[in-house]
Amino acid sequence: MTTLHVPGGDLAVHATGLVKTFGSSRAVDGVDLDVRRGEVFGVLGPNGAGKTTMIRMLATLLPIDGGHAEIFGVDVASRAHEVRQLVGVTGQYASVDENLTARENLWLFGRLQGLTSRRAKATAAELLGSFGLEEAANRPISRFSGGMRRRLDLAASLITRPPLIFLDEPTTGLDPRTRGQMWDTIRSLVADGCTVLLTTQYLDEADQLADRIAVIDRGRTVAEGTPDELKSSVGTSTLQLRLTDRSRIAEAADVVRRLLGEEPVLTPESGGLNVALTDADRAADVLIALRQAEVSIASVSVAKPTLDEVFLALTGHGTDADTDADTDTDTVKEAS
Ligand SMILES: Nc1ncnc2c1ncn2[C@@H]1O[C@H](COP(=O)(O)OP(=O)(O)OP(=O)(O)O)[C@@H](O)[C@H]1O
Ligand SMILES: [Mg+2]
Repeated sequence: MTTLHVPGGDLAVHATGLVKTFGSSRAVDGVDLDVRRGEVFGVLGPNGAGKTTMIRMLATLLPIDGGHAEIFGVDVASRAHEVRQLVGVTGQYASVDENLTARENLWLFGRLQGLTSRRAKATAAELLGSFGLEEAANRPISRFSGGMRRRLDLAASLITRPPLIFLDEPTTGLDPRTRGQMWDTIRSLVADGCTVLLTTQYLDEADQLADRIAVIDRGRTVAEGTPDELKSSVGTSTLQLRLTDRSRIAEAADVVRRLLGEEPVLTPESGGLNVALTDADRAADVLIALRQAEVSIASVSVAKPTLDEVFLALTGHGTDADTDADTDTDTVKEAS
C-alpha cells in the first residue's frame, strides 16, 4: 500500500486554545496540543475529560468552537476536506453492516473511500492478514468478539493508509492478551511511519506506548511530557522489598520507620513491604540495616511512581477506580 503524500511541517497536529462547548459546559476548554510526526502521543484522562470531543474536532467530525487546529500544517476548520484525507479515526466502523462478513465489510468500506473493486478486495485481504483476522474473515461481524471487532475497526481506519491515526481508547474492555496484540499492532503502525494520537484511561497503556503524554482533566491540560518526566514530576520513588521469612515483617517495618521516618505499606501475606523514598540512595541504608538485623530479603527493587500515582498527584483525584467507588456509594445510599 502506498502512503498518501503528506504536506510539510514537523507537526502532525498543532492546536492552540481548542474549545468545544455543549450548552453551558466547556467539554474542551482551551487545549494546546502539538503532536510530532512519527510519534505516539497519548491523551490521558478520566471519563468525561474531553478526550473524544477533542479527537472529533481534530478529525473534522465536530465543528471547532474556539481556537485553531492544523493537521500536517493544513487548517482543520477551513480545509476539512484535505484534512480528512490525512487522518484515520477508529470508531466509525460500528455503522457498517453487522450481517456482512469481515471481508465484505472491509471491501465495502474501501469502495466507500473511493477504491476500485479490485483494489478494495486486495486491501481487505492484506488488512485481514496483518490483523490476524484471516480465519474469521468470512464470518458475519455479528459473531465477532469485542477484541475482533476492535481490530477490524482499526483495520477499516487504515484502508486509505492515512499518515495520522486517531485511536480513541483502542483497548478499553479488551482482555490482557488482546490488549497486548493491539499494542503490537499500534507499534507496527508507527514503525511503518504512521503518527498515532491515542486516548486512554489506562495509565500503563500510555506508559507502554506513548512517546509523550498530555494529561487532561475537565477539558484542560493538567500536565504534559514524556512518561518519565511525568513520573519524576511527582518526585519520589518507591522501595519495594519482599522478605524471605514473612514472619519478620513487623521487625523490618520498624527498621524502615526508624531509618526513613516514613510509614511503610505492608502486605504481610506475601512478606512485602513498600516505602516511599525521597532519595533513591537511602535504599542502600535500609538494606544494610536489615542485614545487620539478620532479616533476609528475597527480592528488592526501586520503582518510580506509577502513572496512576502521577495522575492522582496532578489532579487531586484518581482515575476509574474512584468513579466506580462513588457510584457504589450512591447506590448504597439510594438503597437505604
Ligand atoms: N454531543 C454532546 N452533547 C452534550 N454534551 C456532550 C456531548 N459529547 C460530549 N459531551 C460532554 O462533554 C464532556 C466530555 O466528553 P467526552 O466524551 O469528550 O469525554 P471523554 O474524555 O472522551 O470521556 P470517556 O473516557 O468517558 O470516553 C462530558 O461532560 C460529556 O458529557
Ligand atoms: Mg471518550
